[in-house]
Amino acid sequence: MCGIIGYIGNKDITSILLNGLKRMEYRGYDSAGVAVVENGGISIRKKPGKLMELESAVEDVRFTGQIGIGHTRWATHGEPNERNAHPHTSFRRRIALIHNGIIENYSDIKKELEGKGYEFHTDTDTEALANLIEEFYSDGTSLEEAVRLALSQVQGTYGIAVVSPGEPDKIVCARQGSPIVIGIGDDENFVASDVMAILDHTKQVSYLDDGEMAILTRQDVEIKTIENERVDREVEEIAYDLERINKGGYDHFMLKEIMEQPQTVRDTMRGRLLPDEGTARLGGLAMDFESLLYARRILITACGTSWHAALIGEYLFEEFVRVPVEVEYASEFRYRDPVLDNDCAVIVISQSGETADTLAALREARRKGVKVFGICNVVGSTIARETDAGVYLHAGPEIGVASTKAFTSQVTLLTLITLLLARMRSMSFNKGAEIVRGLQQVPDKIEKILKAAGQIRDIAEQYHTASNFLYLGRGYNFPVALEGALKLKEISYIHAEGYPAAEMKHGPIALIDENMPVVVIATQDSSYEKIISNIEEVRARKGRVIAIATEGDEAIKERADHVIYVPQTLECLTPILTSIPLQLLAYYIAILRGCDVDQPRNLAKSVTVE
Ligand code: G6P
Repeated sequence: MCGIIGYIGNKDITSILLNGLKRMEYRGYDSAGVAVVENGGISIRKKPGKLMELESAVEDVRFTGQIGIGHTRWATHGEPNERNAHPHTSFRRRIALIHNGIIENYSDIKKELEGKGYEFHTDTDTEALANLIEEFYSDGTSLEEAVRLALSQVQGTYGIAVVSPGEPDKIVCARQGSPIVIGIGDDENFVASDVMAILDHTKQVSYLDDGEMAILTRQDVEIKTIENERVDREVEEIAYDLERINKGGYDHFMLKEIMEQPQTVRDTMRGRLLPDEGTARLGGLAMDFESLLYARRILITACGTSWHAALIGEYLFEEFVRVPVEVEYASEFRYRDPVLDNDCAVIVISQSGETADTLAALREARRKGVKVFGICNVVGSTIARETDAGVYLHAGPEIGVASTKAFTSQVTLLTLITLLLARMRSMSFNKGAEIVRGLQQVPDKIEKILKAAGQIRDIAEQYHTASNFLYLGRGYNFPVALEGALKLKEISYIHAEGYPAAEMKHGPIALIDENMPVVVIATQDSSYEKIISNIEEVRARKGRVIAIATEGDEAIKERADHVIYVPQTLECLTPILTSIPLQLLAYYIAILRGCDVDQPRNLAKSVTVE
């Protein structure tokens, strides 16, 4: 979603701001802009559309200032045009502001300020905050104080950065519900909503917590609460390697991330498997482990792809840990007042660790006194910091908007948690050791599947003009069917539905004719016979079947129009393998349709508004 970058220092401001915005492109946006404080005023350029538009708009401008802010906007209030793009200036142009989040009481603020003669020129909620800061920014009040006073009247969420020609040596930023990270440099400092934006320049960062603000000068960073109490925040070193946020020779981040999966799944398991004990070790859970181990009920909550991983978690925990599990969309969980008591534990899953609904669900659960465990990829993210205990995926930065490697790592990690809990409850050593062996072989098996990319591309050639797709799976592969359909619709804009195969008879079967490709996950496991019957039902209605089957299953060739093989594995591990051909199928179909796979329309990598 929206991205914030701010810089104070003596390097070329234009390239720092534009490069920062470029690094955040993956988050999804529909307009962009920059503001530089110079010559006693504020110079601004903004453009709707892709960053290329903004780049052309600044081509002939030579910003001379040494302090500036930049923003990529994902529209919430007001259409994505130039007027509504950030940065926004206040009425008398005394300040410029960039903002992520939503100011809920903006219309009250606007009405009040209009009464005082302020004019508004945009449809955004942000402009109300810009003007409110200006209202407080009178003689004798500093910018910092004006921001503080304005924020005390604001309801909603924000991550902001504010500059003013009145104090041309300062960036004031603040956070409430929308991430802000400060990058510390040598005689220069940065602010961003995402570390990616500043990694080219510094790896030394400090994160703001909700209710905090920071005042950046070139030499100094001061962090305070919004109530003006000093905060001593440690400086952390980001471990990301810049190589990992480049495309590494691939055409798209998504393809690179699909191809990385043998390694990312290995990284998720690294140092965590104990083959001699048939179990796993997860230090991150240790702090509150008993609450998880003795939970009589587990609730898992997440959004999007992470929610699909959570569904696989339900199958794993119920089969092996023998604990009842419920999986709920975080957006429902947070408002539904779910039944939570001391006997239950909550697990939240989020690649980014910043999804607004998942974060709110986590806070709601903690408010009710329940221990919350996190599964995140982004180190230092808000969800990772606010959970009672948790584990990281270690899958490296995921840039493609459509999640791929994070999904397989989430499922891998859920399997490790299952092993750990089940072995301390009733799972035998033999069973545990069998799963450990199965996991150890998974990366090589993924490698083998990736070699079929050419075949999957050929299948995509035949179906990329279809208007609908159906995905069917049973058991562990039902969530994979949901995930396969989500991948396709996200990046190719083809309507796709995932269904538990047997449910097809209760509705989707009416859609099947010779124009409907049906992707069926038909690996040789406990529901193989049943899924074969489902394939026959599709064929009887002339549907075109693309089967994901177990290597060596020759019989299935007679029933399916196309077969993509995955190596044999334990049933509970099949999702880590079967999801991979579906990622590739979606990718190639989207490419053949000319879609922008890394930045699909309207989508955001991390949804930080509800
Ligand atoms: C967005 C992304 C999805 C992601 C979902 C949840 O919709 O486009 O790829 O699965 O958010 O994100 P999270 O970071 O919480 O896993």
